[in-house]
This record gives sequence, C-alpha cells and structure tokens, in this order.
Amino acid sequence: MRVYLDNNATTMVAPEVVSEMEPYFSQKYGNPNSLHDFGRETHPGIQRAIDRIYTAINANDEDDIIITSCATESNNWVLKSVWVDKILNGDKNHIITTEVEHPSVLATCKFLESQGVKVTYLPVNHEGVVEAHIVNSFITNKTALVSVMWANNETGMIFPVKEIAEICRENGVLFHTDAVQAVGKIKVDVNEVKPDFMSMSAHKFHGPKGVGALYIKDSQALSPLLNGGEHMGGRRSGTLNVPYIVGMGKAIELATQNLEETTAKIRKLRDKLEDALLEIPDTFVVGSRDNRTPNTLLISIKGVEGEGMLWDLNRYGIGASTGSACASEDLEANTVMVAIGEDPELAHTGIRLSLSRYTTEEEIDYTIEHFKKAVDRLRNISSSYAKVAPTPGGEAAECHIPQHA
Ligand SMILES: Cc1ncc(COP(=O)(O)O)c(C=O)c1O
Repeated sequence: MRVYLDNNATTMVAPEVVSEMEPYFSQKYGNPNSLHDFGRETHPGIQRAIDRIYTAINANDEDDIIITSCATESNNWVLKSVWVDKILNGDKNHIITTEVEHPSVLATCKFLESQGVKVTYLPVNHEGVVEAHIVNSFITNKTALVSVMWANNETGMIFPVKEIAEICRENGVLFHTDAVQAVGKIKVDVNEVKPDFMSMSAHKFHGPKGVGALYIKDSQALSPLLNGGEHMGGRRSGTLNVPYIVGMGKAIELATQNLEETTAKIRKLRDKLEDALLEIPDTFVVGSRDNRTPNTLLISIKGVEGEGMLWDLNRYGIGASTGSACASEDLEANTVMVAIGEDPELAHTGIRLSLSRYTTEEEIDYTIEHFKKAVDRLRNISSSYAKVAPTPGGEAAECHIPQHA
C-alpha cells in the first residue's frame, strides 16, 4: 500500500483540475496578449480563474489578485518591493517577521539585512505561535512592514492574523501574510482579516505546481518584482501560464467549497491518527489541536531520529516529512521545534504527517500499524544506526532536497 501523508509539501492535482487545464495545452494555446482569436479565446478561462480566487478568499472588486509563479515569488515580491518603496525611497528602515516563517520569507529577510534593513524575528510561544501583543511591542515609527504567516507549514498552528492586521492598521504599518498553508484548510477571508498582502500557492490545494498568487488590498501600489511587458496590468510581467492559472482557479474553488464538511472528515482522520500515535510511550505532538489546521500533525518520538523514521516509513510506502532541512553532511533539527525551545535532541525527532481530502480511513489504519512497527524497530537499534537506517534501495538515508515545504 502507498500512503501519501506529506500534503503540506505538495498535493495531488485533483482530476477535475486536470480536465479543466487540458484544453489550454493543445487547443486554446494562444498567447493571451495576442489580438487574434487564438489569444482572445484564452480570456474567459483566465477571467473565470481569477473570479474563482476572488470568491474563495472573499476579496472585493477594488482588490487585486495577481498571478505569480509560486508563493516564493509572492513572498519575495512583497518584501523586496516594500524595501524599494518604503525603505530605499522612503523614511522607514525596519521589517518585522517571525522565527518560524517559510525560508522564502526568512532568506529574503536575510538578504534585506545584508542591504542594511533592520529585521526583527519575533519569537514564538510554547505552541509555536507568535502572540499579537508581541508584534505591537516591536513596532516603531520606522517599521515599514510586518510579515506573519497565517498557518505554519511544520506544525499547522494558526497565527492570530486578524489581531496582528488590526495592530498594523492602527500603527500605519503594512501587513503581509503567507497564507500558503491556510487556503483550503481553514476559512481564509481577506475581507474579515484585512491583510494588505497575502501569498497563495496552487500546489498546496490540489492545483498544479508552479503557479501562485498575490492578493493586494485595494490594489495599492507595490513596485513590480518582474519588469517587462504589460502583463497583469503591468504589475507582474511574463506571459501568462494559462493552463496553470485555469487549474489554480478550479483547484481553489474545489478546495474552498464545502470547506467545513471536507475539513471535518480530514480532522476526524487526523485526530484518529494522532490519538493512536500518542499511545506510543514518550511521544508528544507540537501545538494544541484546537488551533491547528485540521490536516497536520507534528509528532516527536523520544529517542527516534526523524530521518531514520522517515526512511522506515518510506519502506512501508508511507510518505511523511521530518520538517527539517537536510544539510549535506549533517542532519538538522526541526526549525520550528528549535524556535519553540525544545531540547535539541528532541528537535531531531519530529515527524510531520499531513493529510488531504483524498486520505482514507484504510490508509490511516495502515499508517498507525506501520508507524508503531517502525518506532519499535528504531528504538530497538542503536541511535547511531538509526541516523543511517537503510532506504528501500539499501542506501544510507540521504536527503538532497531541503524539506522546507
Ligand atoms: C508556508 C509556506 N510558504 C511558502 C511556500 C512556498 O510555496 P511555493 O512552493 O509555491 O513557492 C511554502 C511551501 O513550500 C509554504 O509551506
């Protein structure tokens, strides 16, 4: 049996999404900027996709939704353009973010620091969440932007973005939220939360990889990241990736309609898995269930190295994640568990399991059984061996691609 429990990294493209995309590869393949019919016949599909995104996040007509190539681009765009607009060409010098953002925010902040920008990385509490009042205490009259994620990719913990947005508004500071792990998992209503900017990525909600979006409240000014043609009203240049845009539109519609019903089913399965795995002695799950996305579970198993566990699960056909970055020579700890202040040894034991609307009860039962077997095996062998537990092919466990997804 193969069980995919790494849906926070990416998701299966929904079959309905694939069928809506298909005609745009081989029939309606014109460049949307061309004046002839080949170009123009792509317009209704693009418009429908953008309308679906507006509806899914409850955006207003005055707001902008700009298609990007991914959420990494959306995050880079906001941070770098606020730097240009408000710091280089303004009188601000400060950006606030958190210690547990996705690397597309953290690495961009590091780059901005190298350019002289002052960046504050807010700490998280024992649940892995930034408390709103802390944001307030770090804002100064030099703060240009606060960037805090809506939900964390490792733990699924949901951040108090509505309160943070309000604090930013009161202080005249722009607020950006990375909602990649929130869209399609919990209600994301920009009219209620009122962020200035919000990043999204299609492949996290059963759309294709390589397409994302940036929501911009009231279509406010933000220098383009990509200069070139007049695509997307001059806000983001590059020939539109029509099939992927169409796919993202269908995917967000599917992911957000009947949200409560769908997530109730996912939550039930996640809770069943969590309860069963917590029966294993010396385990704990990061963050309380009530404030977590319904599909996510980051579990620590004392004495069991995360990478070793990942490869044992892989041998049973179960795809999970350690949530840590794999450096070439060393195994790194889970960054969120480190930020929470977990013992460094425990921070090496995190395993993230993330479900989707396609996860079945049979798969969860299979995972419970084989997860327990893997823990027994790894606890019965030396911890040094656990670090290089054999892969299905017999090679030592190696990770060439960082797992920050
Ligand atoms: C919270 C978060 N932000 C940003 C990203 C980057 O998204 P993308 O793969 O679209 O660049 C991811 C996933 O990798 C993520 O989990």
